[in-house]
Amino acid sequence: MEDKYSGKKIDVNEYTRRYMDSILIEERLIDSVLPTIETNIFGHRFSSPIMTPAFSHLKAIGTDRDSAMVEYARAAKELNILNWVGMEPDDLMGEILAVGAKTVRIIKPFADHQTILDQIRFAEENGAFAVGIDIDHVYGYDGQYDEVDGIKMGPVTSEDIKSYIASTSLPFIIKGVLSLQDALKCADCGVKGIVVSHHSGRLPSAIPPLMVLPQIADELAGSDISIFVDCHIDNGVDAFKALALGADVVSVGRAIMKPLVDEGTSGVIRKIETMNEELITVMGYTGSKTPDDIEDTMLWVPGVDF
Ligand SMILES: Cc1cc2nc3c(=O)[nH]c(=O)nc-3n(C[C@H](O)[C@H](O)[C@H](O)COP(=O)(O)O)c2cc1C
Repeated sequence: MEDKYSGKKIDVNEYTRRYMDSILIEERLIDSVLPTIETNIFGHRFSSPIMTPAFSHLKAIGTDRDSAMVEYARAAKELNILNWVGMEPDDLMGEILAVGAKTVRIIKPFADHQTILDQIRFAEENGAFAVGIDIDHVYGYDGQYDEVDGIKMGPVTSEDIKSYIASTSLPFIIKGVLSLQDALKCADCGVKGIVVSHHSGRLPSAIPPLMVLPQIADELAGSDISIFVDCHIDNGVDAFKALALGADVVSVGRAIMKPLVDEGTSGVIRKIETMNEELITVMGYTGSKTPDDIEDTMLWVPGVDF
């Protein structure tokens, strides 16, 4: 893909993949036993630290099938993993929440703050597990605030974030943190979770999330803020690397698209179960009995030549 500004051939997702693949893992086998991967998030015990992505705009995935959003919510429910939803209107959000999976609603940074407050309230009244906004979708590529489905986006200030947090009793999450500076602002505002992410490359030349993750995790250590990470977490080995560098939980994104489109709920269940098996295997090889035992010292990062 060509960068819109410089005309250079760069692809943020490709760089993210290359950085991921450049990270290598050492073995710690003596005294290692079969690990477990249960994970605690906001007081609930989930079966795995791997969760679904904040997708949106996925209509019916076959003439006789439900929305893909509902299909993957069913997979999350069956697997007891955390489910995420992006920009969806209240009626579909209601259908997704009715599935009964523990679900996070990520709302767009709408210019109209009342829409954000209304969507937070709808999520809370209909049983969402947590809510948040994706701060990395403020700008379009024409030097203006972006417009999605004809709806204007707008800037997000610290004061805005505090007002959203004050409006709800649900944990509030900021998605699209890609710097220590934003992570610290989130902490000051009182958020309960951040998603370290570049949203599959909204910012041209964005750094891979795993590059900045260790810095953020170090600074937030000991706080009550959960660190979520996405972008090219395509298999259980990628999940292990993110957990080692400081993530509490990770999201698999576009890597569930094909199983989701081809087979719906059962495809997503199989993909996540395979990732769980891959994660458990690497944890076994590194002597990590639980996700909390996974450490950055298990990784070697010889560097990548971009
Ligand atoms: C079809 C599609 C729709 C998405 N919609 C949203 C959205 O509404 N809100 C959001 O925060 N992120 C959205 N995302 C971004 C994902 O949540 C995630 O950050 C991104 O895909 C990076 O992860 P990946 O590399 O594993 O795909 C969407 C991604 C895709 C592919």
